[in-house]
Amino acid sequence: MIVLGIESSCDETAAAIVNDKRQIISECLLTQLEEHKPFGGVVPEIAARSHLEHIDEIIEHTFAKARLKPADVDAIAASSGPGLIGGVVVGVMSAKAMALALNKPFIAVNHLEGHALAARLTSDVRYPYLLLLVSGGHCQILVVKNVGEYERLGTTIDDAAGEAFDKVSKMLGLGYPGGPMIEKMADIGNSRRFVLPRPLYNSPDCNLSFSGLKTAVRKIIESYAPDGIVEHAILPEQDVADICAGFQFAVTECLCHKLEKAIRYFHEHYPAGKDLVVSGGVASNTFLRNRLELLAIANNMVFSAPPVRFCTDNGVMIAWAGLERFRAGYTNNLDFKPRPRWPLDENAPKAAGAGGVKA
Ligand code: KG4
Ligand code: ZN
Repeated sequence: MIVLGIESSCDETAAAIVNDKRQIISECLLTQLEEHKPFGGVVPEIAARSHLEHIDEIIEHTFAKARLKPADVDAIAASSGPGLIGGVVVGVMSAKAMALALNKPFIAVNHLEGHALAARLTSDVRYPYLLLLVSGGHCQILVVKNVGEYERLGTTIDDAAGEAFDKVSKMLGLGYPGGPMIEKMADIGNSRRFVLPRPLYNSPDCNLSFSGLKTAVRKIIESYAPDGIVEHAILPEQDVADICAGFQFAVTECLCHKLEKAIRYFHEHYPAGKDLVVSGGVASNTFLRNRLELLAIANNMVFSAPPVRFCTDNGVMIAWAGLERFRAGYTNNLDFKPRPRWPLDENAPKAAGAGGVKA
């Protein structure tokens, strides 16, 4: 069984071909990072146009690298939401056109399911497992019961973890994307110098919140500006490093603390499960990965995380999720409409404070 996967929901145009022996036959990825950098974040219109311009050549390259013809794949999958709708439409329309022309099944993959299942391609992770999904747009704790079956235990009620990394980085003038820059600076920083809050730390649920933490960082940075304006702040390099270390530490502590609660629930309700998985862009963070590994060991669980290049957006995870869906008998009609919002657990209530945005 061979599946092509297409990813275009944010700022990466990517495609990959995988098979059911868990082999990556080929992959291609073009990042738009440089196009968005001057704006300090992803500009949806620029992203959509760039996907449109490059998607055909990315798909062609993917087949050329694999030495396969389009007719050789068994199904065509595309990241079909959630995400920036202009980009999602480009990927979905390309996949549908190929499916129609080749008379092959089309598979609409939830981008979050791509992140959620990536670890099953690269490690021996079995259902059910506990997942921390931390990306630029999402921050959730879920039980992955099976393909397409999720129980959400917690979610952020405001910013996603990656979003908070990006905003703090911007305030410190470190650029976009923020995660890797903050991690680098944090390596030489003292995480205990600045006292930062841990929002929702004592709430009884598994929900998370990062907006108060971001505001606390903003106040510290403002204190370095003669006129109190963040953009005018002048910080010595060591102070920047100490803020980064304190922030990364606080985010990690919040995530680990809520995961501890989630692990107790998981053990009780899913006694057969043994895996703790982290995925999504923020899962590239080594400090977080190390802490999660310790947490897993302390709770008799096996920790897995996809290699860093499969944590951030990529075509391989979409091809793999597409393959898992196809194998489980799920395909979609060509009238499937891309979904800008698409929660993994459709039954989970909207979290209070989420403003209807986070799912
Ligand atoms: O999964 P992803 O590529 O895109 C979304 O689906 O959102 O995640 C991107 C996010 C960005 O917010 C970026 O700052 C964050 O992942 N990120 C990191 C690191 N590398 C990327 N955050 C913390 N530490 C990192 N090393
Ligand atoms: Zn993503």
